[in-house]
Amino acid sequence: MQTYLSLGRCAAFIAASVLAAEAAKATSLSGRASLLRSLTSGDKLPVSLENIETALLALEKQRGTPGLTNTVTEIHKMVTHMEMMVQQQARLTQETLDQAWSDFTSCQGLYEAASHDLQSVDSLAKDHAKCRLEESSLKIELEACESELTARTSSEVQRKNEFDALNKFPASGFCNHRSNSHEYATVRGYIKHFRDHFASQLNSWESAFNASNTAAQMKLEKARECYGGDQKRDGMGGKDAAYNAKRLDCQKLQVRLEDAACDRIAHRTDCVAYVMCYQSNFKAFFDEGKAKETALLQSQKQHTEYRGLGRIKCVLDAYSKYADGDSLTQSIADCQKGDADQTFVQIELPDKKPGAMPANNTGCLSQNSAEKPGTQAFTQEMYKKLISPDDAVHWDNVKQDVLTCRGRCCASPAEATV
Ligand SMILES: *[C@@H]1O[C@H](CO)[C@@H](O)[C@H](O)[C@H]1NC(C)=O
Ligand SMILES: *[C@@H]1O[C@H](CO)[C@@H](O)[C@H](O)[C@H]1NC(C)=O
Repeated sequence: MQTYLSLGRCAAFIAASVLAAEAAKATSLSGRASLLRSLTSGDKLPVSLENIETALLALEKQRGTPGLTNTVTEIHKMVTHMEMMVQQQARLTQETLDQAWSDFTSCQGLYEAASHDLQSVDSLAKDHAKCRLEESSLKIELEACESELTARTSSEVQRKNEFDALNKFPASGFCNHRSNSHEYATVRGYIKHFRDHFASQLNSWESAFNASNTAAQMKLEKARECYGGDQKRDGMGGKDAAYNAKRLDCQKLQVRLEDAACDRIAHRTDCVAYVMCYQSNFKAFFDEGKAKETALLQSQKQHTEYRGLGRIKCVLDAYSKYADGDSLTQSIADCQKGDADQTFVQIELPDKKPGAMPANNTGCLSQNSAEKPGTQAFTQEMYKKLISPDDAVHWDNVKQDVLTCRGRCCASPAEATV
């Protein structure tokens, strides 16, 4: 604007130098002069054009003199230059506005509504709890198997001892019918005794043998049921393996659940950044006195100036054409209605383009609970509440494993409490 003012002053100076001092000091203005004053649709000329107005009034004084043509040419040059400046100003206004808009729309990159699978946390928590209950049941089965195995092991030992007690050859000299505690008169008599005695002995011995065998067999079966073919507690077979496999499955589910919770925290962080950006840039663009309103006001002013300049050119033409008389008066009066092509000082509002307005995603903040895995609140909500209501034993069975935080955002080493 200052440039306009100085240009205006410059024009006034030129006019004054052409006119001589008394013309510049002229106080009585003709009817045309007042027409000149209302060139901008009845309003006063913008401040930036006031001095041009003075120069125009000088034209009126110079009417019918040879110097008029020169003055018209000089003022015309000024006006053309000022028009360019208004255009340049209009471009700057547009650029400033576009930049503010581009800042606003760039918030979009901070947050993608679809980038985090928020629904999965709750459903994973349910799947995980179900898995842990199954794990606990398998643990209970394994423990029952093991306690049965313990009983069968001691039964096996007992039966074996019983068999061992019977599993003895007769003492030497047993067959000697004379040296036995009973004296047998006849060998026949002794043989009968011998046969009777061994018939019952053999039966007990075989029973004990059978019992010991059965006990060993039953222990073996139980050991296989508990531990599989190798009969060892190593997670390779039987109920032991089933429990271990389930436990690993549950651990994997827990990782997925906690990772999903970590995503939710990341989502919240992105969301907060987005909301802050959106709100502050929205204000910067739309609020009173901010980008859009300022641009509109500037544009309004540029319009007035540009139209004023166009009308001044029109007046200059009138002075070139008519030295004086009604034709000049009429032409100047007509200039008041003139409207230059203003399309290039027309501002383009970026928010008015179809689909330009960025989505208002500020609702993303209302996503509830972004508890971090490993915290007491998370454990309570995602584990204890879901696992222990059925049976506190289940919670005890899986607690230690569950309380080891496994997600990617866990503090490490992480052990939570409840
Ligand atoms: C011992 O087991 C065998 C084979 O099963 C059987 O034939 C026999 O009758 C059993 N003996 C006793 C005394 O139980
Ligand atoms: C964005 O939407 C929320 C409701 O979801 C509303 O309260 C807020 O005023 C909106 N903000 C803007 C700038 O449109």
